[in-house]
Amino acid sequence: GTTLGASAAEKGRYFGAAVAAGKLSNGTYTGILDREFNSVTPENEMKWDATEPSQGRFSYTGADQIVAHAQSHGQKVRGHTLAWHSQQPGWAQGMSGSALRNAMVNHITQVATHFKGKIYAWDVVNEAFADGGSGGRRDSNLQRTGNDWIEVAFRTARAADPGAKLCYNDYNTDGINAKSTGIYNMVRDFKSRGVPIDCVGFQSHLGGLPPSDYQANLQRFADLGVDVQITELDISGSSQATAYANVVKACLAVSRCTGITVWGIRDSDSWRTGENPLLFDGNGNKKAAYTSTLNAL
Ligand code: XIL
Repeated sequence: GTTLGASAAEKGRYFGAAVAAGKLSNGTYTGILDREFNSVTPENEMKWDATEPSQGRFSYTGADQIVAHAQSHGQKVRGHTLAWHSQQPGWAQGMSGSALRNAMVNHITQVATHFKGKIYAWDVVNEAFADGGSGGRRDSNLQRTGNDWIEVAFRTARAADPGAKLCYNDYNTDGINAKSTGIYNMVRDFKSRGVPIDCVGFQSHLGGLPPSDYQANLQRFADLGVDVQITELDISGSSQATAYANVVKACLAVSRCTGITVWGIRDSDSWRTGENPLLFDGNGNKKAAYTSTLNAL
């Protein structure tokens, strides 16, 4: 193929980008988006602070704009994210116990129902595991409601939108390490107990080449019976072009790796200010990393 999306589709995968609703009126931006990508993830518009700014009052303006754009251009939508310690509305940040648990369940039910039938895969829970060597959960207000908060989130999402694939998503999980193994053990437990989980997202915010066991790590999750996806790929550093190619090759080598999403389109769209970690430069021109990515697909 001659574009990322078409080439990925030839391999039975999608190639997506994180999208900001406020940029959909920019012709350079949408020109690249609609030429190259066949999946989108709202960069911020589906997060708790955006969709429920005051308790029980839901706001879908930006998210609906992105979903409408995707539907009219044949792009899948990855929903991001239903339950996360970060980017919570102020009213939720101060809650705890059963009040917070009930608020989380209501939030998931309302948002997943609003987008029912339009979401390919939801990042149901984002970044719930701790960095470092513990392999355990990250402390957060959600974690303090009880260790079962993650499975409750997944069961709630399944009930609201049975057609969406339900993913757990995290970072610093690129190789086989304590954090990824903690998540691996959770997924294995969920599968053994019938907790609904369909996929694991690897954010892959990288600072150079992926670890040498990147493919093996994806494969061990796939072997548990879940899809795996690269969900927020961006790569800084001088080995960028090679690193992108290596990530693509690893995904293609794992039959259950269903797609790759880059976390923005142009370097000027990236949350990693000054690191230029994306596939297009600030003028929308293809970088060497674009070419190596396309050639690897
Ligand atoms: C980032 C967005 O790109 C920024 O615009 C926002 O200010 C902060 O969040 N992990 C995630 C994403 O799961 O939601 C984050 O997105 C990047 C890290």
